[in-house]
Amino acid sequence: MPDKILRGRVLRFLREPDGITDAASYAYAEDGAILVRDGRVAAIGEAAAILPQSPDAEVIDHRPHLLMPGFIDTHIHMPQAQIIGSWGAQLLDWLNTYTFPAESKFSDPAHATRIAGAFLDLLLAHGTTTAVAYCSSHPASVDAYFSAAETRNLRMLGGKVMMDRNCPDGVRDTPQSSYDDTKSLIARWHGRGRASYAITPRFAITSTPEQMSMAQTLVAEHPDLHVQTHLSENRDEIDYTLSLYPKARDYLDVYETYGLLGPKSLFGHAIHLSERETAAMAATGSIAVFCPTSNLFLGSGLYDKVGLREQGVRRAIATDVGGGTSYSMLRTLDEGYKVLALRGQKLDPLKAFWWITRGNAEALGLADTIGTLAPGTEADIVVLDSAATPAMALRAETIETLPEELFLLETLGDDRAIAATYVMGERVAA
Ligand code: GUN
Ligand code: ZN
Repeated sequence: MPDKILRGRVLRFLREPDGITDAASYAYAEDGAILVRDGRVAAIGEAAAILPQSPDAEVIDHRPHLLMPGFIDTHIHMPQAQIIGSWGAQLLDWLNTYTFPAESKFSDPAHATRIAGAFLDLLLAHGTTTAVAYCSSHPASVDAYFSAAETRNLRMLGGKVMMDRNCPDGVRDTPQSSYDDTKSLIARWHGRGRASYAITPRFAITSTPEQMSMAQTLVAEHPDLHVQTHLSENRDEIDYTLSLYPKARDYLDVYETYGLLGPKSLFGHAIHLSERETAAMAATGSIAVFCPTSNLFLGSGLYDKVGLREQGVRRAIATDVGGGTSYSMLRTLDEGYKVLALRGQKLDPLKAFWWITRGNAEALGLADTIGTLAPGTEADIVVLDSAATPAMALRAETIETLPEELFLLETLGDDRAIAATYVMGERVAA
């Protein structure tokens, strides 16, 4: 493959910003360029320094747009693409009324294939190049998801939900079938190309203790895999969980008892936590995943970013489509800003864009591979247009600093602000 040079304003984060004036946390080139060779970043910086490094390269000029690492979504549900924006329910009713019926359709491989492809195309159109997805309980949904990702050459993580109670026949598995299916899916997909399998017990309410034991065995047998589940999203969910696991000290203790905590464990929502739960998450390096559009839409509650940070809990951010209401990490930041504002907390724009790129890559343990645009990493890139809509263009006239521009992008931006998306250096969207 011939070399490629993408020109534009280039931004990448070197570490977590300390605040809005922390200019040492990022590298920014006003007249910048990224040299892509064999799908990876070969060099990045000022165009004057990059262009001579490959005089025969194809140059794609995105000026005046802003180039940064493709966005990373750390919690999303592929089989919920057709129930996003379903009206009038909080979590448990929403699952029973909309979610489980929608997921039962994924027993049909043709349906799974169609939705998985559309789902990944939507992610790319919104500038997201890596996601950690829940598939349905049907192995065919995982095959559809990873096949669609392979066709598009995407770095994707995901797994089959394990769920053996408190759900309808069409989505219910058993402890043994969930173990067997997960084992064969790991063998088929984990480490194939850019695919990574994530062990996925849906949440304590839909798993018997026997299934939790199977999840524990899977984690023990595959300590290199990610684990994902839901935690303390909704008050009724917490009460129900504690009634099903009466010996548990608290909600997290259910997962702790079955050995599911650790630095590769992603806990979606993690809103209503006790001090003990927070301390246990911090001690194990477990990750609390903030899902702001979902938490507002389902009326779940307000994530305590500052409290979690002060207690040393690792944090990630995600859409949680279809409880979440947008595929866009820009919309997610906007709603995240508002959730934190309701708590009297602040999310500054540098930290926000660090979070959806390098921060989420660090949370996944993948910052050596994606999310930084450092030389040697995979060239998954998003191109942003800060004047994409009339309202953005008008506001952009008065923007003077990079943080101001980033805040405009997150507050007014969505897929219309995605001028292009590149995967391994190939343009795939917009
Ligand atoms: N808890 C268990 N399953 C789900 C789900 O699909 N979405 C959300 N938001 N919470 C859950
Ligand atoms: Zn979820």
